[in-house]
Order: sequence, then C-alpha cells, then structure tokens
Amino acid sequence: TTLKAFVDPLPLPPVLHADPGKLLQIDMQETSQRLHRDLPPTRLWTYGNSMPGPTIEALSGKPARIEWRNRLPGKHFLPIDHRIHGAEQDKPEVRAIVHVHGACVQTESDGYPDDWYVPGQSRVHTYPNKQEAATLWYHDHAMGINRLNIYAGMFGNLILRDEHEQSLGLPSGEQEIPLTLSDRLLTKDAQLYYPVSGNSDAPWVSEVFGDAMLVNGALLPYLEVQPRRYRFRVLNAANARFFHLKLAGGRPFQQIGSDQGLLAAPLVQKSVLLAPAERVDLVIDFSGMGGQQLELINDALPIMQFRVGRGSVRDTSVVPAVLRDVPRMPESAATHQRLMTLDEYDDCVAEPMLMLLNGKRWHEPVTEKPVLGSTEIWSLLNLTDDTHPIHLHMVRFQILDRRPFDQGQWLASKTIRYIGPAQPPEAGEAGWKDVVQAYPGMITRIITRFDGYVGRYVWHCHLLEHEANEMMRPFEVVAA
Ligand code: C2O
Ligand code: CU
Repeated sequence: TTLKAFVDPLPLPPVLHADPGKLLQIDMQETSQRLHRDLPPTRLWTYGNSMPGPTIEALSGKPARIEWRNRLPGKHFLPIDHRIHGAEQDKPEVRAIVHVHGACVQTESDGYPDDWYVPGQSRVHTYPNKQEAATLWYHDHAMGINRLNIYAGMFGNLILRDEHEQSLGLPSGEQEIPLTLSDRLLTKDAQLYYPVSGNSDAPWVSEVFGDAMLVNGALLPYLEVQPRRYRFRVLNAANARFFHLKLAGGRPFQQIGSDQGLLAAPLVQKSVLLAPAERVDLVIDFSGMGGQQLELINDALPIMQFRVGRGSVRDTSVVPAVLRDVPRMPESAATHQRLMTLDEYDDCVAEPMLMLLNGKRWHEPVTEKPVLGSTEIWSLLNLTDDTHPIHLHMVRFQILDRRPFDQGQWLASKTIRYIGPAQPPEAGEAGWKDVVQAYPGMITRIITRFDGYVGRYVWHCHLLEHEANEMMRPFEVVAA
C-alpha cells in the first residue's frame, strides 16, 4: 500500500536556548512517534523525546553547557555486529556518546567514540562556541554502534548564530526552518528495519538505504508558507543516502551557506547534491506563487510539498549580494602535507568487506599529529569506486581541488600519475566545510588550520556503515 502524500504538516522540533549561565539537560530516551498520519507509532531512540531532537540555539562567543543523560533501555533493538571493533560481546549493548558535528571543542566534550557511557549515566559537555555562525548538528558517536543509534533517531540540529549574520536581514523567525533529511526502511507495522547481511554472526552491511524519505521525522510532509522568502537549513542526517535536491519544474533557488556557515555570496542553484552529514543553507522565494504548490524533490521523487498561501505580505527580508568574507587559504600557508588513502578490501571470503583510511585500522597507533595552530594540506587519494564523505572533527577546512589519477599505477608502484586536470570545488562548496565528498579515482585536496585545542580527535567517512567498519582514524593535535 502506498501512503498518501502531503497529509502531515512538517514537524518542527522544539527549540532549546543555550544560555551561558544555565545547564541544559537533554535525555536520550526511547520514544514512539508517528512518521505518517496513516501509520502506527514507530519505536525510536531520541534526544529529548523527538526525532530529530530539539533544535539547540546558541550564540557565537557564548559558551554552552549541556548534560547529556543516557536514559535508554538496557537492550538494543537493532542488530549489533559483535565483530565490529568496539562492539564486542563483552561490551555493554547500549552505549552512547554525543558529538556536536562541526563544533570546535576540547576533546573531553567532543564525543570521542571510546568515551561512551551506559544507561543511567550522564555527562556534561562544554561548548565554547568560539566560531562563526553555522548549522551544526549533534548525533551519537559510540564506538561500533553509532550507525544503529543514529538510525534509531539520535540526531538533532544545533544552530549557532552570530551578530554579523543577524545583521544581514536574511529571512528569520517563522521564515527560517530546519529541514533534516533521512531515509529509513520500515516493517509492515511501521517499525524501523535495519538490514542485515546473510551471515548472522556478522550482520554488518556496507550501506543502508531506505525507501521511506523523512523530513524532520515525517514521511512526505507539507509546509504552509506565505508568498515571501524563506530560509531553509537543510541537513542530510541519513546513514548513507546522498540527496540530490531540486524544486519541481527546475525552479531556481539561492544557496547562501554550506557546512560551516555562509558562503561569500549567494549562489543561484537549480539543484544541490548533499552527502551524509553535509548541510546547505537555502533561500526559496515563494512570492508571486500565492495559491500554488511546490514540491521539493530528491532526483525524481517528491520528499515534501510547500503550499503557498494567498494574499499579500510585506517581505522585508533581504539576501545581500555579499554575505561574509571567506578568504581563500593560500596553499603556501601549509607547513605539512599528508597523503591519505581511502581503501577498500573485499577480496577476503570469510571476512566482511573492510574499508580503511591510510591502510590502518582504528586501534593502530596515531599517525597524524598536526601541531596546534599549523596549517596542513590533506590529499585524499580515493582507491575505491565510491564517493566517501570525509569529515574531520574540530576544524573547518576549504577544498582546494580534485584531480583524477591512475588508480592502477598507484596500486602497482605507489606513485601518482594524474590523468586529467585539477578541478576547483563547485561554487556551492567553496566556503568553509567540515565534510568533503572524496570522489572515486580522484585525489581530493583540502587545506585546514588546526586551531582549537590539543588532544585526540577523529576523522572518518560519514557513511555510517563505513565509519563503523574501520573507516575512522584518530588524529592528535599536539602543542607547538
Ligand atoms: Cu558527524 Cu564524527 O561526525
Ligand atoms: Cu566511506
């Protein structure tokens, strides 16, 4: 049976304000939530009783403290693979640790994957918020099971604002809306289904794609809008799906930001391709569309509908031609260059497929030790056939370029032969980023300054199944 489209209003998660003086408390808890009017409630694990969890609003320069309390049940309801590192039989089944994706925080508050804790325990994280306005998000990062915890519903938005952005006059208030995208597989009785491999001792699968597309936790919702400009903060919170977003009829929209905040200038777009964990900040102008309906679509399939009200409104919002200064980081600033391979091994019969960064597993000694405050260029040499969205904790970076190279020659002799010219980043990814799509057969170069704190952080593929099966490595920022 197919569900009727556009019968549920777009849910808007509750908003929590992070005031410097106050400790926010957020419970991780089991919840049941209806994903569609005609479905029974679905069992979820959430932050603060909804999927997505509450939208946390914070101000740049104003530190926030959050107590994340693990109030989950003692048994997991999704299939744990005990052969995955960190999820062995002797580990508690239910473990959790929160990471605020894109935040620059001390390692004790970053949600290091081994810092998990069990139901009944809690942990206070401090977020200094010494960074520019951006759409950040929080999600589980517990070693070996975060793909399951996130699939169960453990994610939410954290919107960091600053005075500069607030002075621009962009659409705000009721005209500023988070759109958090995810996909799920549902059983006949509308419960989450997480697929498993044929081997019951090794249920891990390399990617999960659902056919139920959710926006803010609802299946095919609608949003009533007025004939004016709206700002949409779009987040791809899916485990593995890329979203290729368009408006029906090829209607153009403006992109004003990406992962780490505003672009230098607005960009007219007809589509955007969002990898897991990437964010894109869009402005859609519904003026002149009174009484009409407009669908937001992923490839050819609708994922939500905008219903434009009639009448006239005075829209005082603007999208300035200059949004902020995004100076390009010169390559000459880098004092260290690292070549990192993205590898896949699937020729072993007994073992499940394995994906590694730089040929190393998670538990091997730390090999990347950037100096605090120094600038580095990382060249991500993708030896696989897939695009991997690579994320570094703590830092923001810029994409320098992507260049096709001869994979065979690298495998044979560990030497690089380029087979095409270097391509600059797309305009929509030329601002500050914290996730980069590393294309297959290409060397993707990023440049970053390790500003922040000394200590142990992680970098990984944000396809959550890859991350779980060893496509994650620590790095350690060391004192100068
Ligand atoms: Cu979205 Cu390691 O993070
Ligand atoms: Cu990957």
